[in-house]
Amino acid sequence: MMSEPIVGIVMGSDSDWPLVQKATDTLKTFGVPFEVRVISAHRTPDLACDYARTAESRGIKVIIAAAGGAAHLGGVIAGHTVLPVIGIPVAGGALNGLDALYATLQMPSGIPVATVTLGSAGPVNAALLAVQILGTADADLREKFHVYKEGLRQKVIAGNEKVNAAIGQKGE
Ligand code: RP5
Repeated sequence: MMSEPIVGIVMGSDSDWPLVQKATDTLKTFGVPFEVRVISAHRTPDLACDYARTAESRGIKVIIAAAGGAAHLGGVIAGHTVLPVIGIPVAGGALNGLDALYATLQMPSGIPVATVTLGSAGPVNAALLAVQILGTADADLREKFHVYKEGLRQKVIAGNEKVNAAIGQKGE
């Protein structure tokens, strides 16, 4: 059984889940316990406020909020908590996520929402940023992040060798 959640993940609709799942997959690889809730800033505004107001006292350290369209969820959550909030804009609708990107990103001074990119990198990076925030007070987590970064480096080196092998060059 997973220990008490320290990352809270909220999304505006269960239709966001296929994307958001990439965040939970990433948190799992770092062994970071999380909880997931479907909460809408517009359809369940009371729930959004309650969640944000109680998250700190329940032991949550970082909140990740994903929403599409007029994506106010991250901002509303951030307005009701002192915990850091990471926003994932979800692509879709007539503007294909540009609305969600701007709505999540363009927060007024005083209420930051650390907004990640549209697309599949977004939830991965949201989870990684949450791990980095938690890592500032957790040496084990930081060590896991060193290993993760080394994995990225090795992947690039392997990619270079593969491409250069294909064209018969050394590529050093
Ligand atoms: C947003 O509206 C949700 O976050 C979702 O991305 C989008 C569409 O929601 P559904 O109509 O699919 O429930 O609030």
